[in-house]
Amino acid sequence: MELLLLPVLLAVFACALGGLYLLGAFRRRRPGEPPLDKGLVPWLGHVLEFRRDTAKFLQRMKEKHGDIFTVQMGGFYFTFLMDPMSFGAIVKEARGKLDFSKFAMQLVKRVFGYVSIKDEHKFLQSSSNKHLMGDGLVVMTQAMMPNLQNLMLHSIGQADGQKTWKEDGLFNYCYSIVFRAGYFVEKAKEIDRVASEKLFYEFRKYDKLFPNLAYGVLPPREKMEAERLKRLFWNKLSVENINKRENISGWIWDQQQFEEEKGMEKYMQDRHMFLLLWASQGNTGPAAFWLLLYLMKHPEAMSAIQKEVDQLLMANGQAVKPGGPLINLTRDMLLHTPVLDSAVEETLRLTAAPVLTRAVVENMTLKMADGREYKLRQGDRVSLFPYTAVQLDPEVHPDPLTFKYDRFLTPEGTRKTDFYKDGKKLKYYSMPWGAGVSICPGRFFAVNELKQFVFLMLAYFEFELKDPKEEVPSINTKRWGFGTMQPTRDVQFRYKLRF
Ligand code: HEM
Repeated sequence: MELLLLPVLLAVFACALGGLYLLGAFRRRRPGEPPLDKGLVPWLGHVLEFRRDTAKFLQRMKEKHGDIFTVQMGGFYFTFLMDPMSFGAIVKEARGKLDFSKFAMQLVKRVFGYVSIKDEHKFLQSSSNKHLMGDGLVVMTQAMMPNLQNLMLHSIGQADGQKTWKEDGLFNYCYSIVFRAGYFVEKAKEIDRVASEKLFYEFRKYDKLFPNLAYGVLPPREKMEAERLKRLFWNKLSVENINKRENISGWIWDQQQFEEEKGMEKYMQDRHMFLLLWASQGNTGPAAFWLLLYLMKHPEAMSAIQKEVDQLLMANGQAVKPGGPLINLTRDMLLHTPVLDSAVEETLRLTAAPVLTRAVVENMTLKMADGREYKLRQGDRVSLFPYTAVQLDPEVHPDPLTFKYDRFLTPEGTRKTDFYKDGKKLKYYSMPWGAGVSICPGRFFAVNELKQFVFLMLAYFEFELKDPKEEVPSINTKRWGFGTMQPTRDVQFRYKLRF
């Protein structure tokens, strides 16, 4: 009997040790490693506080530990680097040591049910270079113009030529128009406003569930709803359905061809389409909302950009007239809007807040800009949160919570790119698009889209807040880390035709 008891006791002891190990009880800071903060809850560590408000939590950790620290979250150890001078060490590190794809693939599988294939990321980058930048962007800009204008002018009932005020929720208005205009670029020549409005409505439902879905903490009922929505979009965006359309963007077409050639199953291709729809449409609409709201709250910004818009139209021999032709805003014209460019950059500084994460593939040493060195452990993760680390740093951007439309303008009126910390020029002073291998491939298209929308708003409409005293709503803290932030509530505004 006693003979039997010993192995049982040993097994229990081993299990208990293993359990404690998994719960992180034995993890200690080794010499040369960043400060370690495991939090009070075993295994979970700080994950609840992180999810509640990432920016607040990281600010607290920064004040406690300085510009580099390791925190435990849900069984993983994340080292956060908060010194923007040292970002290059992470962003430019070779893939052999810091890997982006592993982490991203897990997330994408959980949220979109999509399993990517070899070389796909490389292909996405090259097809984005072709279609979402340079010459490809000229084609995309042209495709967006009629869509945007049709939606904007239709919503005010331009046909009856009346100049009456129309009221709407600004967030809903911006997101809906930018989403639907972009969706047509992907899909159809014919504008089906009703159908696209319904689709936007469903998209918003998924969009709202997204943060909890990404963290894997949806309650059962919402999980079922997320499943329903996924299936709806897989079907709407299925290869079969898309191939029936004529006017698919080259970006989508190339992606599909690549997957077809690689023998990817059709159902998986459909899932990828939904992922691309979300990536391409989930951030620009909310960014357009913040930009228009800031303009309405800052009349000096509004009039500076209005002046730029009117002058550019005049210089190109165009004018908005009742019943006149649509504006032909070319890619070339959009290259000559330094004031609007600065306002876009300022909006993104204040409202785009991704977390950039890489898996540490092998033990390595991180060299900070000031010469300090830290050891990173294989199996851990390393992350940047530029929003707290640099975008809101008062030394880099004085008065950081205030929208200053000309923050990114030089006195000569060109793009300002020199920002300093500790007297040294920063390379990474705002990072709405992420950086390095995972940088947003749609960033030029996104800026272009935003500028087109705001340009047209200013060209066609007069617009103002319903209540001019209304404060800018606060940011919904549940969405930190995924791109453009959303407001906690909508804001009513009104608009009418200028001419
Ligand atoms: C204001 C608008 C936008 C913002 C702030 C934004 C931001 C971002 C960020 C932060 C990432 C991830 C970076 C990382 O993981 O390190 C990303 C990825 C991505 N974005 Fe954007 N984005 C915007 C608009 C767009 C548009 C319009 C498109 C396409 C037309 C697009 C396509 C993508 C794709 C495909 C990815 C995944 C890239 C990959 O797997 O490496 N984005 N975006």
